[in-house]
Amino acid sequence: MLEQALEEIEAAADERALQQVRVAWLGRKGRVTEQLKGLGALAPDERREAGASINALKSAIQDALARRERELEEARVREQLERERVDVSLPGLRPAAGAHHLLTQVMHKLTDVFRSLGYEVVVGPELEDDEHNFGALNFPPEHPARDTQDTFWTTDGRLLRTHTSPMQVRYMRSHRPPFRVVVPGKVFRNEAVDATHEAQFHQLEALVVDEHVTMADMRGAIEAMAVALFGPGTRTRLHPTFFPFVEPGAEFAIWWTHPKTGREEWLELGGCGMVHPNVFRAVGYEGVTGFAFGFGLERMAMVTYGVSDIRDLYRGDVRVLRQFRGVA
Ligand code: PHE
Repeated sequence: MLEQALEEIEAAADERALQQVRVAWLGRKGRVTEQLKGLGALAPDERREAGASINALKSAIQDALARRERELEEARVREQLERERVDVSLPGLRPAAGAHHLLTQVMHKLTDVFRSLGYEVVVGPELEDDEHNFGALNFPPEHPARDTQDTFWTTDGRLLRTHTSPMQVRYMRSHRPPFRVVVPGKVFRNEAVDATHEAQFHQLEALVVDEHVTMADMRGAIEAMAVALFGPGTRTRLHPTFFPFVEPGAEFAIWWTHPKTGREEWLELGGCGMVHPNVFRAVGYEGVTGFAFGFGLERMAMVTYGVSDIRDLYRGDVRVLRQFRGVA
């Protein structure tokens, strides 16, 4: 009898079949159970002997069932592992990842530098009014200095900001000195577009105001930026020039090693100067001094990364843009 049970157990091909065998032998109407029920009809000493052998049969069947169950379980796991096997040597699917535009990278690099120098990064509106873009920055009405900023006017008398300097006025009117801020952003000029001029470009403006800020501080700030960007040994040069909102005013240039040609030369970057007293008057500041500087990002990006036509920065041609993935 045991032999037959073992045969059936061995032949069970899966867990369901094994369960059927279990029921057939050990279930309520199973063959072993029936035998146990039959014990009552036997004489006491026969009963003990028969009982012992039925119990031995029962536990042998239980052991065999348990063993077979383990076997089937292991086979199932093995089969599943085989089925779900991953071939790590197959070529993967490369996800299409985007990248920051060259100008965005340059902007991030600059704002990182200024943050590390303790400046706050703030931004302002691109649609401005005469007061912020000109009036409070000491451009009197009808003054010829306005002509240097070929302005896009809107039909309701507002304008697209021609520089980031209007944010000087907005920031000073809403904060108290001392502070150090930089303002990156888009600016607009009504220019004939060619390889080095676009009607839309980007500037970065810096403004520092405190009780005893001097021109030497300004020079130090510009030089610290230059060194952070282009490495030790980078120097700066100031040339006197005129902007209505600074006095004295200057253009600044950076003495650097051109990354493409390897030549050392001056790179004219932008304008700077000490905040004009009329500007402080316009924002209601007294007893402080300050400096400001501002420059165009496109020019810096083009010279640094060898882009010869500014329009390539705005065409959105990925063949061009891909070349500048992760450079800055
Ligand atoms: N806003 C000036 C320009 O766009 C640059 C500048 C900024 C000059 C700050 C002096 C101080 O030409």
